[in-house]
Amino acid sequence: MDTPVQYTPVHYTGTERRPRIFRDDLLQGRISLVTGGSSGIGLGIVRVFAEFGATVVFLGRREDKLASAREQLLREVPSANLETVALDVRHHGAMREAVASIVERHGRLDILVNNAAGNFHCPTEALSENGWRSVIDIDLNGTFNGCQAALPGLKASPHGGRILNITVPQALSGWPGSAHAASAKAGILSLTRSLAVEWGGYGIRVNNVLPGPIAGTEGLKRLYEDRGIADHEYERMAMGCFGLVDDIANACAYLASPGGDFVTGCDFMVDGGRWLKRGWV
Ligand code: NAP
Ligand code: COA
Repeated sequence: MDTPVQYTPVHYTGTERRPRIFRDDLLQGRISLVTGGSSGIGLGIVRVFAEFGATVVFLGRREDKLASAREQLLREVPSANLETVALDVRHHGAMREAVASIVERHGRLDILVNNAAGNFHCPTEALSENGWRSVIDIDLNGTFNGCQAALPGLKASPHGGRILNITVPQALSGWPGSAHAASAKAGILSLTRSLAVEWGGYGIRVNNVLPGPIAGTEGLKRLYEDRGIADHEYERMAMGCFGLVDDIANACAYLASPGGDFVTGCDFMVDGGRWLKRGWV
């Protein structure tokens, strides 16, 4: 391809922040639940929701990881209202109990972000049945578990409940070497569209957010950097850089805010143009 490159590629470490783009009380008083909030993109969403005044309950499997994420966030946002729950999203009953406890304490749930996921590179020929099942179970079944558990709480939201499902652009293109994750995430795209219609009558908006490669995250490390293909991935970025967790968190904040009142069932691509450029390089 001989399109002239008009930018200087930017290599983020992943710790950089975007300027604050919304008013400080954007999510004031909102009760939110973020799955997989103890690292990476999920942690970035928890941080931004807390900065905008939301109470954030975040969950993951590892208690120690949740505790150190909470400590880090409280140093960054001393006013943050944060709660943590250690559970595995694959357990429907545990998700139900966690949301019931939030509703008991806060009276409702305003925002659910289904972000927890698992992925690893493995050609399908070599993938074990349990490897396939694990990723489908965390990503697709975990998202279903979150949505169904959250429904009673979201129905009670005076703001109109919000569900944000974090998927991936490869859910649309397919993903050689990650067929398990691409299939699970494609299932989530369809679940989102189905629920947007089924639950629209309850005032609940349900949307997908599709991040491109995000600097400093586990996903980027295991799928590109550890495999020595990060440089090639750079060439696929129309914007000449990977994204920041703030890029995804700000997209979520917008969809969760009154700005997102008339947005439901959409695929919000936040990928630096990778989706379009990848076909050309
Ligand atoms: P990450 O840092 O590995 O974070 C995953 C989070 O989910 C952690 O908090 C982890 O905590 C939790 N988790 C994993 N399995 C769980 C389970 N079974 N039950 C409960 N919690 C679980 O991942 P990331 O790279 O930020 O990715 C986050 C999301 O963005 C994923 O949905 C991913 O598909 C999507 N995404 C990422 C990128 C990227 O460039 N990173 C690009 C596109 C889409 P524990 O390990 O303690 O459970
Ligand atoms: N290549 C091939 N198979 C793999 C693998 C790899 N890199 N990593 C795990 N598997 C297989 C295991 O061998 C096992 O199959 P088996 O029983 O047939 O041997 C199966 O996957 C489940 O692995 P296990 O470690 O028992 O599952 P888990 O439930 O503890 O963890 C994972 C789930 C595998 C998805 C794990 O990578 C994880 O917890 N990921 C969360 C973080 C993450 O993926 N972040 C990036 C998000 S984009």
